[in-house]
Amino acid sequence: MLEVKGIRKSFKEGNSRHDVLRGLDLSVDTGDFLAIMGASGSGKSTLLHIMGLLDKPDNGKVYIDGIDASSMSGRKQDKIRNEHTGFVFQFYHLLPELNALENIMLPLMIKTPAYRWLFERRKAIRRSEELLEMVGLSERARQNVTTLSGGERQRIALARALANNPKLLLADEPTGNLDHKAGSVILDILGELNRQGQTIVMVTHDRSIAELARRTVTLVDGELMS
Ligand SMILES: Nc1ncnc2c1ncn2[C@@H]1O[C@H](COP(=O)(O)OP(=O)(O)OP(=O)(O)O)[C@@H](O)[C@H]1O
Ligand SMILES: [Mg+2]
Repeated sequence: MLEVKGIRKSFKEGNSRHDVLRGLDLSVDTGDFLAIMGASGSGKSTLLHIMGLLDKPDNGKVYIDGIDASSMSGRKQDKIRNEHTGFVFQFYHLLPELNALENIMLPLMIKTPAYRWLFERRKAIRRSEELLEMVGLSERARQNVTTLSGGERQRIALARALANNPKLLLADEPTGNLDHKAGSVILDILGELNRQGQTIVMVTHDRSIAELARRTVTLVDGELMS
């Protein structure tokens, strides 16, 4: 479903360049649960952002369902990203002015043309309520997200990432900011989603978390080791 080939990425560092990714290849099959490990600064987030079309490689290609997405226009990439990929980040990135339900509805609003929203709104609310229930937070629907705990915020972020039924869920240290218990709740949900067929790529520092995945790769010196 997703294949990256020959990915290189470097960043400017004073007068020189820091090579973060040095021509790596990786493919993800439907139903996979892949953990990406590696030391801090090894390029895990950079790689995940490239896989999700949030960042461009200096060299290399990103194929989504066999189609070269890296050569598409920005607009086309935005569309593919919104329809194909859901993201969960370490620090949630929820919109503070909105309540839990509205945050989950956001991706559905974005993809719906304004003239259709009146018709689609009810369906979007229903879908968002289902997702809230799936993450065990139905009773928090109307609560402003700034008043939720970290673990609850991350569950809302996860529900939002799933709103569009993405084929691929990308998670960047989704438990990195949570205590053990709140983290386990997130991991249990991810495990259950994968058993139901959701394809997941997760970045983590933690070997015990990586064991939940079906497959682990490790980033070392800009290359992947399995
Ligand atoms: N936009 C940027 N500009 C300059 N340097 C960057 C940029 N993004 C990342 N880097 C550098 O690239 C390297 C890899 O960063 P990245 O965030 O991918 O690492 P990581 O493996 O996710 O680390 P962590 O586990 O701490 O999150 C780091 O040295 C970082 O400073
Ligand atoms: Mg990172």
